[in-house]
Amino acid sequence: MRIAIIGYGKLGHEIEKAAIERGHSIELIIDKDNADELDSEHLESVDVAIEFTTPGTAVTNISTCLKSGIPVVSGTTGWLEQWDEMVRLCNEKGGALFYASNYSIGVNILFAVNTQLAEIMNDFPQYRVSMEEIHHVHKLDAPSGTAISLAEQIIEKSPAKKNWSLDTENPDTIRIDAKREGEVNGFHKILYDSEVDTIEISHNAKSRKGFANGAVMAAEFLAGKSGVFGMKDMLKL
Ligand SMILES: NC(=O)c1ccc[n+]([C@@H]2O[C@H](COP(=O)([O-])OP(=O)(O)OC[C@H]3O[C@@H](n4cnc5c(N)ncnc54)[C@H](O)[C@@H]3O)[C@@H](O)[C@H]2O)c1
Repeated sequence: MRIAIIGYGKLGHEIEKAAIERGHSIELIIDKDNADELDSEHLESVDVAIEFTTPGTAVTNISTCLKSGIPVVSGTTGWLEQWDEMVRLCNEKGGALFYASNYSIGVNILFAVNTQLAEIMNDFPQYRVSMEEIHHVHKLDAPSGTAISLAEQIIEKSPAKKNWSLDTENPDTIRIDAKREGEVNGFHKILYDSEVDTIEISHNAKSRKGFANGAVMAAEFLAGKSGVFGMKDMLKL
């Protein structure tokens, strides 16, 4: 496939390597210094765009791709308050949009286990659930998009939980402890604590390669499709 990389930062560079390794070619690279080149004319030369930029620029980038008829895979976190708007635009244009807060296959297995565990734990109210996430100091948003997805999965399965919070600790709230340390690639832990024991499930990303491989696989998955897709569709978990 001919790929456009939008956002040539840490993930953009990894995606370039992963795409070439999987036999694709990179036809267009957009970063903030040439952001004005992201238009239908430049996108004409590509089959799909992969977008990992910033919370403040993702929506414009995704919109431009959809309006230009180019399928887009986005991994940028921190813009989901405009999710419904992007879904509407995608459907209106008959386009294709793939979004995941985390493209790592391991994290998506954690998502599946997290949902099952939350269901089981409903019958054991003596356990208090909380979460911890650790990322590198350059990360702009907190909690991470992955932590929010994990919390939302628990809330969906637990009638007693209504919301998540970074600071308050109420019986109906899941506390997320978001830490920013060194160059940590991504650590997420869900913890159920009782007076007598603790149950923990966690995922630790050893490098960014897992995210990049997943994003390129998502681009391959979008070929010939229209609609809005996520990791559940691709991995059939
Ligand atoms: N979904 C996932 O699996 C996953 C994994 C890791 C990171 N992320 C998210 O991906 C995003 C990027 O992460 P990163 O670590 O590569 O960050 P980064 O800061 O290294 O890279 C972001 C890049 O976007 C560029 N940029 C800024 N404005 C732009 C614009 N208008 N057009 C094009 N490029 C622009 C910046 O110059 C920078 O090079 C973040 O939101 C991060 O949270 C998602």
